[in-house]
Amino acid sequence: MNYVKSKQRVADHGEVFTPPWLVEAMLDLVKAETERIDSRFLEPACGSGNFLVRVLQRKLAAVELKYGKNEFGKRLYALFALMCCYGIELLADNIAECRANMLEILTDYLDLDEADELYRAASYVLSQNLVHGDALKMRTHDDQPITFPEWGYLGKGKFQRRDFRLHDLALSSTFSADGSLFAHLAKHEIFTPTKTYSPMTVRELAGAGDGTKEAV
Ligand SMILES: C[S@@+](CC[C@H](N)C(=O)[O-])C[C@H]1O[C@@H](n2cnc3c(N)ncnc32)[C@H](O)[C@@H]1O
Repeated sequence: MNYVKSKQRVADHGEVFTPPWLVEAMLDLVKAETERIDSRFLEPACGSGNFLVRVLQRKLAAVELKYGKNEFGKRLYALFALMCCYGIELLADNIAECRANMLEILTDYLDLDEADELYRAASYVLSQNLVHGDALKMRTHDDQPITFPEWGYLGKGKFQRRDFRLHDLALSSTFSADGSLFAHLAKHEIFTPTKTYSPMTVRELAGAGDGTKEAV
């Protein structure tokens, strides 16, 4: 495997990819979380997804254990596993590769083709969860504040979405630190979503992606 695309990119962006053995060792430090379908992972410099791809594969192994014999549950929880993976990447080619790599993992697992609603829903989710932008400035490539969707699975094929600004989420640890004036407050009292959506089905998610320029 090649860990460097060019010397210039290393110099300009610190772009050196992580070897698989190191990804595994690091993920093993939080093994139980990587094997939980609904744990949320954010990779703020995700490159082409060396960490996120393995997180998704571990989550899908958990889906298989729990829902492998139930086609309906397997499809929905596999999509939910994908919904819990987030990334930010500065370079356009890397974020495109990352989205494609994640989609390929899900597609292979569920044996999807491009016409499948779940494929189109997943493509839309990836366009929302994997952001082309600057993690330090917390702004997208077109200079908007980075906002992430929080997805929840409500059961019966419906998903809930609420959007939060990364800037607000990043303050979370400050507010909950011991001694903080706000430590006694519950998170929902401090963090309010910028937008709350009505519950959506896979079909509605697939439709939401039609015409989205960043869908994979
Ligand atoms: C050291 S590479 C790691 C890539 C991937 N996480 C891996 O382990 O293989 C760092 C990545 O961060 C990206 N990057 C650099 N500065 C960034 C920033 N301010 N915001 C988001 N991504 C950034 C680079 O383009 C590069 O893809």
